[in-house]
Amino acid sequence: MSDLDQVTLNAGEKSVVLPVIKPTLGNDCVDISKLTKETGYFTYDSGFTATASCKSAITYIDGDKGVLLYRGYPIEQLSEKSSYVEVVYLLINGERPDAAQLKAFNEELAAEATVDASINTLIGSFAKDAHPMAILTAAIAQLSGIYHASLDLADAEQRRKAAVRLIAKVPTLSALIYRHGKGLPANTPDTSLDYVSRFLKQTFEAADGSYELNQDVVKALDLLFILHADHEQNASTSTVRLVGSTGANPYASVAAGVTALWGPAHGGANEAVLKMLEEIGSADNVESAVVKAKDKTSGFRLMGFGHRVYKNFDPRAKVIGEMTGKVLKQLGVQDPLLDVAVKLEQAALQDEYFVARKLYPNVDFYSGIIYKALQIPTEMFTVMFALGRTSGWVAHWLEQQVDPEMKIGRPRQVYTGSDVRDYQG
Ligand code: SDX
Repeated sequence: MSDLDQVTLNAGEKSVVLPVIKPTLGNDCVDISKLTKETGYFTYDSGFTATASCKSAITYIDGDKGVLLYRGYPIEQLSEKSSYVEVVYLLINGERPDAAQLKAFNEELAAEATVDASINTLIGSFAKDAHPMAILTAAIAQLSGIYHASLDLADAEQRRKAAVRLIAKVPTLSALIYRHGKGLPANTPDTSLDYVSRFLKQTFEAADGSYELNQDVVKALDLLFILHADHEQNASTSTVRLVGSTGANPYASVAAGVTALWGPAHGGANEAVLKMLEEIGSADNVESAVVKAKDKTSGFRLMGFGHRVYKNFDPRAKVIGEMTGKVLKQLGVQDPLLDVAVKLEQAALQDEYFVARKLYPNVDFYSGIIYKALQIPTEMFTVMFALGRTSGWVAHWLEQQVDPEMKIGRPRQVYTGSDVRDYQG
């Protein structure tokens, strides 16, 4: 952080003094809101690599140091000591719940876990091989059709209720979408179980309701959801905020976030990583894969590598990398793709191309190997990411709705089209 509280920008014969905003942690920000009025200039920053879109107190990332804090708590400590539902409460409310608050929150999530029968009709209307992210988008949007009578965004309790409904119902939607793809009958969540166990049982139980919970699986999934819960202004969260800034309801905003997450450059990378590892096939082919990834004309990238913010190890990738071997051992799963992934990581981290560009494994690099070991099909991997990230999306939407500085998002552009011309003939 600098000790400047303002900067001066000289633009030809004009100059403007711009205030500097001081964050709790991280880079100082130059407030350019009066730049155009005083100088006539816009700014250009494709991909918003150096542009803050809002003020937020939820998550902080230091990309150079590989630091990730949820409401100030380091992700490593939350991974070790917390639970996903406690992290959800923390993200939304800003403070950890006491025992009574956590119990009440768990009970409220259980009470809201079921979905309207019309959701089953909607999911059933999709082809069996429809991508689960397409179905999840539609199902979340449909929730706004079901709860249209309680969408008064000026009402704090209705905003809170919508947040709880989204967090409670996305696991149920995910389970129903999985079952649809497998030709299994739709079912209802067992609300006597905790959040993660409820999701697992509903997803995997046989038609007669039988399913044996494995506590190692519950713990692994709980941790994966913690690691995926939030990540400040990533593309999908920024999408939720942009849609939310128009006054659209929270279900529509989160449905938009799901579509943004789907892209292989973002949350879709976990699915792309597994396909990439399967394509590489064996550790013997790792060297040639690294060569291909460095060749811009190949169109091949090492999926699960690189990050817009982390120019050091993604701390989540470290935790997931460490847990992968442990989970596979607990489940007695041997996956040759794990050897390929480990070899690929080692080769890339020693290669000048990746070192020079500070390309490290990110959250998506190992997660798919664990999901595979948990019997989750590849096409469901990004749904799993969305399930964990719903809490972050909802926390940012709630924060935005009470932000006095919130305006409708409406970027400017650099126009490169034709000059004005007359319509001849
Ligand atoms: C997530 O933002 C978030 O917080 C996202 C996320 C979250 O929790 O919400 O962390 C989740 O989306 C993680 C990222 C998952 N995506 C992937 O794993 C896809 C592969 N990675 C990339 O496509 C890329 O690294 C991005 C999209 C993640 C970041 O892209 P940037 O910041 O726009 O970087 P860039 O494309 O400008 O790349 C910089 C250089 C380029 O080379 P030069 O032009 O400088 O020579 O690095 C190269 C790129 O070609 N590069 C890669 C690479 N990633 C970047 N080269 C090979 N393989 C890669 N994976």
